[in-house]
Amino acid sequence: MYKILAKRVLAQGTVVENEIEAPRIAAKAKPGQFVILRVNETGERIPLTMADTDPNRGTITIIYQVVGKTTALLKSLEVMDAIMDIAGPLGTPTPIEKKGTVICVGGGTGVAVLHPITRGFHQAGNKVISIIGARTKDLLIMEDKMKKASDEFYVCTDDGSYGHHGFVTDVLREQLTKLGSEVKEAVCIGPVPMMKFCSKVTEEYGVPTMVSLNAIMVDGTGMCGCCRVQVGGETKFACVDGPEFDAHKVDFEGLSKRLTAYVPQERQAMDRYEQKCACETKGK
Ligand SMILES: Cc1cc2nc3c(=O)[nH]c(=O)nc-3n(C[C@H](O)[C@H](O)[C@H](O)COP(=O)(O)OP(=O)(O)OC[C@H]3O[C@@H](n4cnc5c(N)ncnc54)[C@H](O)[C@@H]3O)c2cc1C
Ligand code: FES
Repeated sequence: MYKILAKRVLAQGTVVENEIEAPRIAAKAKPGQFVILRVNETGERIPLTMADTDPNRGTITIIYQVVGKTTALLKSLEVMDAIMDIAGPLGTPTPIEKKGTVICVGGGTGVAVLHPITRGFHQAGNKVISIIGARTKDLLIMEDKMKKASDEFYVCTDDGSYGHHGFVTDVLREQLTKLGSEVKEAVCIGPVPMMKFCSKVTEEYGVPTMVSLNAIMVDGTGMCGCCRVQVGGETKFACVDGPEFDAHKVDFEGLSKRLTAYVPQERQAMDRYEQKCACETKGK
């Protein structure tokens, strides 16, 4: 059992941050890696990235958006409640080296995934330019931590309520035009359309780019094939070959299609969960 030590509800109640006691995972975790957890005995396994780790405290931090049954169930847990099991660290760590100037772009909860990678590039001595975005100011997450891990930092909101009025791709293009060949790498993590459009921009400028693919996963160890993605015409398993891949080779259309494969079942599971919660509230 993995005890929840802290809980913070962010972004208009739609995003939750949990610090969890998991000393063995915290001791081994590297940027870019994730865990697969099961809330209770009958729960499904879901992958979540470690947004932060503290090997001294023996904790990992996850930040997740409530999008369906399992994330809603996870949100219902309070401090000192326990998560049934957590497997990790999983996935191939981000290859972090000193390269020069690196641009890190994050959208929505993708910023949680981007944070340890940004910090890793910064600690390796790179000049890190970060650009984060959200639909509106109240949905932005991890602004302070991202700022701390960056040499230059930009915020964008779709509605103009904070920072640049527009998309992260606008600021990305501005920076690439200004800096040219000084930029050695870009890392873009967020919703699939955002990663796709960022990757189109960096391709125009010839900047090698990594994206983190949120394919549907079951075992997370390369056994079931559920997380298969097409990269450069080859089939890869996001859980073991990734989750990060060369953005310019990823089949984003195929990924989007696979992510919606179980929408009717996911809706049904959420409806059943909401009905159960409503009955419990009424004391039935
Ligand atoms: C490597 C990896 C890291 C991730 N890190 C984060 C993170 O740090 N924060 C965060 O908010 N989200 C993260 N996700 C996405 C997260 O796993 C899904 O949002 C979660 O599984 C949804 O479960 P649900 O039951 O609440 O929603 P559901 O209603 O079951 O599903 C909603 C949508 O989530 C996706 N999804 C559902 N089940 C899975 C699954 N088993 N594996 C992957 N995706 C699934 C599908 O696109 C689905 O349409 C990550 C995904 C991957 C693959
Ligand atoms: S989740 Fe089963 S092979 Fe990747």
